[in-house]
Amino acid sequence: MTIRDNLHVVVSGAAGFIGSHLCDRLLAENHSVVGIDNLLTGSLRNIAHLAGHQAFRFVQHDVTKPVHVDGAVDAVLHLASPASPKDYMRYPIETLDAGSAGTRNMLELARRWNARFLLASTSECYGDPLIHPQRETYWGHVNPVGPRSCYDESKRFAEALTMACHRVHGLRTNIARIFNTYGPRMQLDDGRVVPAFIDQALRGQPVTIFGDGSQTRSFCYASDLVDGLYRLMFSDERYPVNLGNPVEMTIREFAEHVCRLTGATCAVEHRPLPEDDPKKRRPDITKARTLLGWEPQVPLEEGLRLTIEYFRSL
Ligand SMILES: NC(=O)c1ccc[n+]([C@@H]2O[C@H](COP(=O)([O-])OP(=O)(O)OC[C@H]3O[C@@H](n4cnc5c(N)ncnc54)[C@H](O)[C@@H]3O)[C@@H](O)[C@H]2O)c1
Repeated sequence: MTIRDNLHVVVSGAAGFIGSHLCDRLLAENHSVVGIDNLLTGSLRNIAHLAGHQAFRFVQHDVTKPVHVDGAVDAVLHLASPASPKDYMRYPIETLDAGSAGTRNMLELARRWNARFLLASTSECYGDPLIHPQRETYWGHVNPVGPRSCYDESKRFAEALTMACHRVHGLRTNIARIFNTYGPRMQLDDGRVVPAFIDQALRGQPVTIFGDGSQTRSFCYASDLVDGLYRLMFSDERYPVNLGNPVEMTIREFAEHVCRLTGATCAVEHRPLPEDDPKKRRPDITKARTLLGWEPQVPLEEGLRLTIEYFRSL
């Protein structure tokens, strides 16, 4: 792995939760960043602290339209896509466009500059998995016509397109399969379990658990995930690499952690499980450990404290 200083990096989805943290990391490593976002689900608030930063430029643009950037480009990191179930079910067509036309345009930008390219893919490529934990070699169990298919199939298409561009044009591509990630700058009302539980606990409302709460998830803190993405973008691995936290817990246990750390006494309200909701989710990160020397460092307790602090400050 060779890491050069002062790369010119283009990040799509820069005003989003993960994209904004990734911009921070790239700038801290002395790279220059052009952040692109159409603000569909992101917010300028996430990058307000970068206004006036000499090495950062923001361009409001929809990546489903051709992307042109002034100046040289060494790396293209494609994160633009609605990402929470609430967002992608509200914008199913935009989501499919971001994974198809959006990925195509970002790959085209990388090809024009002979730049490296990284796709932010997702554990949703595994669908409601039949093997556990999920390894990169598992092809997944996805309902192609269910309400979540707009996201799952968009990302599966984006992965296929990325591999095709590598094979046809010799592009240096990487694919990150990101598992549940949390931290400051998530949207409070995006329907994902971390902000939802914290918001309910801070307001003294009952926490809403879908189903009986025995379904499992694993949660990766934003800085850990961003470190994984940063390492991956310099690697020569072309096939997908899982990035996520392998510590698995039930949603019920997770609710208990949130209630304890917010100091709330939480009642629980149960609602029916959404269609195609995965029952188990845990990454096998052997590949990331071996190839990138990466594994999450931030314990859940610490990450949750930082996230709760952020939501309290809003
Ligand atoms: N957060 C997670 O747990 C998680 C898990 C798996 C994968 N991912 C992937 O990581 C990426 C970032 O997710 P996030 O959680 O930061 O979501 P987010 O919604 O906070 O960020 C996505 C950003 O993309 C922008 N965007 C959407 N469509 C666009 C378009 N056509 N043109 C330009 N910008 C567009 C949005 O405005 C937003 O700022 C996504 O690709 C998502 O699929 C996230």
